[in-house]
Amino acid sequence: MELQFSRHRKLRSSANMRALVRENHLRAEDFIYPLFIYEGENIRNEVSSMPGVFQVSLDHLQAEMEDIVAHGIKSVLLFGIPKTKDACGEQAYHEHGIVQEATRFIKEKFPEIIVVADTCLCEYTDHGHCGVVEGEKILNDQSLELLVKTAVAQAKAGADIIAPSNMMDGFVAAIRAGLDEAGYTDIPIMSYAVKYASAFYGPFREAAEGAPQFGDRKTYQMDPANRMEAFREAESDVAEGADFLIIKPGMPYLDIVRDVKNNFNLPVVVYNVSGEYSMVKAAALNGWIDEKKTVLEMLIGMKRAGADLIITYAAKDAIRWLKEDE
Ligand code: PBG
Repeated sequence: MELQFSRHRKLRSSANMRALVRENHLRAEDFIYPLFIYEGENIRNEVSSMPGVFQVSLDHLQAEMEDIVAHGIKSVLLFGIPKTKDACGEQAYHEHGIVQEATRFIKEKFPEIIVVADTCLCEYTDHGHCGVVEGEKILNDQSLELLVKTAVAQAKAGADIIAPSNMMDGFVAAIRAGLDEAGYTDIPIMSYAVKYASAFYGPFREAAEGAPQFGDRKTYQMDPANRMEAFREAESDVAEGADFLIIKPGMPYLDIVRDVKNNFNLPVVVYNVSGEYSMVKAAALNGWIDEKKTVLEMLIGMKRAGADLIITYAAKDAIRWLKEDE
């Protein structure tokens, strides 16, 4: 009997053969590393739900940045934890707000590093929502004004990219107009265009101390059940002038990453969020999975799904592991 079948294993016969036909690759330039900058002194707290991730004060930033540069990371994403919070999140847009100070520091000492500023209010408001609140309502248009002020303050401090994560409608249009008017026509916007209301943000809310004090974010972040809504969100951000599109979280939404990659011609960024990071850490610390192999598989899965860039807390580890395998 003559069987007809293909011998796929021909291309898997050795490590070099596999390398020859590998379709996707991870590189240090693919990663954006998030940093939590804590207003205060002598602070370097490991986040209990995110082993290996630290909140650092400005006086520890030099050492942290040296470590980042030594790893070969080229871009950082800044989040701030201010000393004081209020109803309007004033420290988000204050000239001496913690993200503005950290940006100035990094651009002075490490000018080649790309500083991406997260533009949101939830770490700065006492109610923990990403906009202005009236009663239990999160107001859209009133929030835009404060987000524009925040983006302009960040650009003024030297941020290379503005990354609004607040999910108010019209935030890209408002921020683009505000930046242009203030003379920052060359600063790109990396929009959190497709951001789901996700349980995977849990550990981040501990790290950034920005959990909502009432209700949830479901009136502004997206329903995890929806796909068409992702097209609508991405379309309007493109029309409003976004330069990059972020999909967030990563792992449970790789179908959406592929959709966005196939349908839009902007760089696609996947945010491998805190919960994804912490799940792997927890399992690895228990000895249940191989951390290196699992993380690299997750990250290459994101590239395969269409990510051009990945925001990940595992960037340092990943780059170190990739070098080990060279
Ligand atoms: C702020 C913001 C959040 C994350 C990034 N920016 C939290 C949220 O929307 O509640 C989550 C990042 C992560 O989980 O790693 N709006």
